[in-house]
Amino acid sequence: MFDRSQALTTMIRIARRAGAGLMDDFGARERLDVREKSPSDYVSSADLRSETLLRQELSRAYPDSGLLFEEGTASAASGARPRFIVDPLDGTTNFLHGIAHFAVSIALELEGSVIAGVVFDVAKNELFHAEVGHGAYLGEQRLSVSKPGALAESLIATGVPHHGGSHHAPYLQALGAVMQEVAGIRRWGSAALDLCYVAAGRYDAFFELGLAAWDVAAGNLIVREAGGRVTRTDGSEAALDARDVFASCGEPLHGRVSELLAPLHGVAAGAHR
Ligand code: IPD
Ligand code: CA
Repeated sequence: MFDRSQALTTMIRIARRAGAGLMDDFGARERLDVREKSPSDYVSSADLRSETLLRQELSRAYPDSGLLFEEGTASAASGARPRFIVDPLDGTTNFLHGIAHFAVSIALELEGSVIAGVVFDVAKNELFHAEVGHGAYLGEQRLSVSKPGALAESLIATGVPHHGGSHHAPYLQALGAVMQEVAGIRRWGSAALDLCYVAAGRYDAFFELGLAAWDVAAGNLIVREAGGRVTRTDGSEAALDARDVFASCGEPLHGRVSELLAPLHGVAAGAHR
């Protein structure tokens, strides 16, 4: 019988081990090999080492599990076997620039639903986790999203498309509409952590296009378990194979910001899973 809580404990232990390796590499960045996978999308030997460690440890703990990793590891889950969806280093650009804001993200999917998630902010030693139906936590502290208040007082996070990215024009239109109504906009460079910051009530909402399952699988669950709402930018149901995500503390802010994001509705096609 598959023990969910035991799995979460294992995921936390393995995320911490991967984090220790990343901190070693963060301190010796000049020695890393770096390659551009596609314009402005980098992978380094730190990402790959972290992926190898996570793959080995998760496979050792759950030999029959399916795997989906950002840097290429993939095997299908079948029947009642779980699948781990993993970003071995979310925030690679920050990492390579010496900015201490990056994470390891591990989600556990069972029969098509994410049932547990861990996001470990390695440099700040903040470990976010959630199990479906059991709440979201930062360490031992139970998380809840902010109380939806006036839009003019809200702090909204986003991810900005870059050179080589797509949908720049509608993105700028949407950002322009949102920034005129809110107290502040943040772009900190790790989607997994952006979602956890919504869960912790630090941000009131977060939106981005161009994401993949490994960026959001754990963070989406952590937001929901903290009482927040996660959809696509047009307010429709979120899906791991959708490329856009919109997470918030809830209504009425969710609906109002979704209206402001109208230039993005329909532009983000489905993507890799
Ligand atoms: C990236 C980060 C970033 C987001 C990008 C992602 P990576 O993930 O989450 O915040 O804006 O869209 O690709 O490549 O550092 O794992
Ligand atoms: Ca990554």
